[in-house]
Amino acid sequence: MAQGNVKHGTLETIKTGCLVVTLSEAKTLTGPVKMLDNACNGQISAAIKQGDISGKAGQTLMLFGLPGITAQRVLVIGSGKDEELGDRELRKLVQKIAATLKDGGATDALLTLPALAVKGRDLYSRSRLLVETLRESLYQFDQFKSKKATPSRLKKCLLWAADKADAEALALAISHGQAISDGTDLTRTLGNLPGNVCTPTYLAKEAKALGKQYKELEIEVLEEKDMKALGMGSLLSVSAGSAEPAKLIRFSYQGGKTKDKPHMLVGKGITFDTGGISLKPGAAMDEMKYDMCGAATVFGVVKAVVSLQLPINLVCLVVAAENMPSSTATKPGDIVTSMSGQTIEVLNTDAEGRLVLCDALTYAERFKPASVVDIATLTGACVVALGAHTSGLLGNNDALIEQLLDAGKQADDRAWQLPLFDEYQEQLDSPFADIANIGGPKAGTITAACFLSRFTKAYPWAHLDIAGTAWTSGGKDKGATGRPVPLLTQYLLNQAG
Ligand code: BES
Ligand code: MN
Ligand code: ZN
Repeated sequence: MAQGNVKHGTLETIKTGCLVVTLSEAKTLTGPVKMLDNACNGQISAAIKQGDISGKAGQTLMLFGLPGITAQRVLVIGSGKDEELGDRELRKLVQKIAATLKDGGATDALLTLPALAVKGRDLYSRSRLLVETLRESLYQFDQFKSKKATPSRLKKCLLWAADKADAEALALAISHGQAISDGTDLTRTLGNLPGNVCTPTYLAKEAKALGKQYKELEIEVLEEKDMKALGMGSLLSVSAGSAEPAKLIRFSYQGGKTKDKPHMLVGKGITFDTGGISLKPGAAMDEMKYDMCGAATVFGVVKAVVSLQLPINLVCLVVAAENMPSSTATKPGDIVTSMSGQTIEVLNTDAEGRLVLCDALTYAERFKPASVVDIATLTGACVVALGAHTSGLLGNNDALIEQLLDAGKQADDRAWQLPLFDEYQEQLDSPFADIANIGGPKAGTITAACFLSRFTKAYPWAHLDIAGTAWTSGGKDKGATGRPVPLLTQYLLNQAG
């Protein structure tokens, strides 16, 4: 949605199915709503006087066939107190507009919201947030429903520029917002697919399909025999119990100069996490199909970066495997040797994410990266610490951490840093091997990152724990969120300068 275009000029003569204007709680009308009110001889002020709308946030009034106005309908939506309007308020407003338009009769709409001031945001960034929120609201996943949702009549949304001079910033906001949303949608869909469909083999096929679609993209898939030859004993210990073979997928995109070091992303792609022999309890185990959301994020970011044609070099790895119990599965107490040579005592087979990631992180060294960011639904402890709104962020390089925190704020897809102090490392001591794969009940997100840090000494590295942010649990909104595609795409947009 929000397809393409920007319009400017006199509001009352614009042809559209629905003209959307906001009304704040302030006593006097200003901006677009004022222009329309003048054009229709005060019909909107009359509605305010009659108590049909007051400007309270989220209130709506649909007016049909107003005199003196070309648009078929005018949707007036309350935007609350001007001084309180921040990202969250803007998102709620756009969600309400999307819900109203989706069920309404208009086949196209023009949104005047770019004119609305949002705390800390310029025209470009608030308009991009608007586009992304609109797209997020219109996303549907019904490919397994026999009865599809009735398709909405709404086919396109345009944005209105108050001045011709604003049109350029708006066009950029739309194209960036669309690219990010296309990536986010892909991530959500991969995350929502069930584990019996979305296997490691399926992900490898999807990657190859993406490679066919974009000639700038090179895809390579390593098979288990290749991983064995590389010494990836840790990764292979996770897929050992499953009939589904693991896949290590590489995406390479060259948009920068040949000599530019690549930025790297590494995604955890456990297509189903039963816990293995350390079996998880049954309640809500279905949600462990989302344990490949780090991988799905990589797909989404790659799609966004390629469609934005960013002038950077990007190499991404997706480690895909299924974690199952069986007679061939790894057992608690087993000792495996990672590609780095470090031996690992697997005390809990449910701490499998770090076991697949560590070998991918060692493999990443050969690409001489400028930086490596891994993305993983790694710990339940992160959900306890930060809930569903904020991703956990840890790493070995302060500058990289700052860049990611900033990108998260810019994209309204925030992360928060947790400490990676040396004191926590001792929790991983093992009497039998170089390192244990769990660090006890305390600070689970931090000890998971400590584990990864043993494999990332060769480059600036950061880790995003998205266990809480990658999906919405239970309820009617259950499903993948597509986070942190906006954060990471913003980070790479910033790298591109
Ligand atoms: N995939 C899970 C982490 C997870 C839990 C993500 C809940 C989303 C929601 C991960 O593989 C896991 O099982 N981690 C264990 C680690 C523990 C055994 C040290 C956990 O968090 O319980
Ligand atoms: Mn697990
Ligand atoms: Zn897992």
